[in-house]
Amino acid sequence: MKIGVIGLGHVGLVSAACFAEVGHHVIGMDHMPERAQDLLDGRVPFFEPGLQELVTSNIQNGRLRFERELRPVVDEAEAIFICVGTPSLPSGEADLSQIEALATELAGCLDGSYRVLVEKSTVPVNTGHQMSRTISRLTDSPFDVVSNPEFLREGSAVEDTLSPDRIVVGGSSERAFTLMREAFEPIVQRSGCKMIETDVKTAELIKHASNAFLATKISFINHIAEVCDKTGANVDLVADGMGLDPRISREFLDAGIGYGGSCFPKDVAAFASVARELTGDSALLEAVQAINARGPKRLIERLRSELWYLKGKRIAVLGLSFKPGTDDLRDSPAFAVIEELLASEAHVCAYDPVAMPAAKERLSPAVGFATSAMDALEDAHAAVIVTAWPEFAELDPVEIRLALHLPIVVDGRNIFPPERMQEAGLTYLSMGRPPVRSD
Ligand code: UGA
Repeated sequence: MKIGVIGLGHVGLVSAACFAEVGHHVIGMDHMPERAQDLLDGRVPFFEPGLQELVTSNIQNGRLRFERELRPVVDEAEAIFICVGTPSLPSGEADLSQIEALATELAGCLDGSYRVLVEKSTVPVNTGHQMSRTISRLTDSPFDVVSNPEFLREGSAVEDTLSPDRIVVGGSSERAFTLMREAFEPIVQRSGCKMIETDVKTAELIKHASNAFLATKISFINHIAEVCDKTGANVDLVADGMGLDPRISREFLDAGIGYGGSCFPKDVAAFASVARELTGDSALLEAVQAINARGPKRLIERLRSELWYLKGKRIAVLGLSFKPGTDDLRDSPAFAVIEELLASEAHVCAYDPVAMPAAKERLSPAVGFATSAMDALEDAHAAVIVTAWPEFAELDPVEIRLALHLPIVVDGRNIFPPERMQEAGLTYLSMGRPPVRSD
């Protein structure tokens, strides 16, 4: 089957490469000239494990190609996946102007042959209806808009796409469902996952509701961590105890400085805006956001409680990306932590295994960068852990103590067992777990 993918960011490029991998012929197109050029040269412009290999091999076997213009994509592809950005407006509402512009452009390219236009970008409920209305005002060509939300996670995007938990398709015509079944058939075959068919609005809501629920779960456990901090209870054990209940599950109950990335912050804000508009009440999601915003502040408070004044102190910041396995810095809690450190006139020395090139472009020139985690720790007055990179958890606590000027580690991701830090003679303050003190 011939598939088109418009918008080649994380969702679009991974989808394009995976559809090609399972045997479809895929044509990708992106309006950003630099991104389009990178892909025409066969280069994946961001870090995602396994993606470069998949793109290279599928270009070579002729199942994946890229175009600069929309028209050849619409001329050839029966199903066109729309994966353009839906960023937040200052109000939190989703900015759908790229979707609207593309709908208009697609209408101009339809030439009488039936096409399925697949909304894959995360969008508020009703966007499919708006798209259909916009396009049908401009063309008589037959088309359907379907919603096919994406559930991939950065860092495991290829695996999540080839072996998804579920595929959700929202549509309103048998013709569209038939093409969508054909598109996903090889993935359903190899993974055995379920394909759920709904109306368009329900599919749109499944996506927003899923991300809002996961973010709520994280803020819920972070709120419990705040209570643990005040009582001496241990949030990890609370999460273990709760998680044994299959109705709750242990997943997404890791306490820390909070969620970041290109999805949860944006989607919770957009869904809060939808909830406010449609029901007059967004208190639940506003509480989720407020708890999340407190995470970096709680981390800095711990540091201040140990070091008294941060002014003039050298602080090692371990981790910059919003989570391990990606160089994505979007809405990373590292920014809030570093801003607060710089505002307090501390000297920041940061290290991240993959995100430093991108971070150098975005962070203040006052931030220093180390060549390794141990290099960042050398002679620092304290270390703060912002991202749970496995290589940080593998550091030897004794070596950490020997490298630091003062034996203080503030862990925003609870990556070390407190007993090991205690044995090494470190003061170790984590999130929602009893503190360990060396003095
Ligand atoms: C998230 C969802 O997990 C995907 O299902 C969804 O498709 C994607 O958004 C999207 O809408 O595109 P992603 O943003 O890649 O995926 O990252 P997650 O692995 O979900 O982590 C998000 C944030 O939550 C990270 O900052 C992570 O550190 C934090 N987190 C996660 C916690 O603080 N605690 C946890 O227990 C789990």
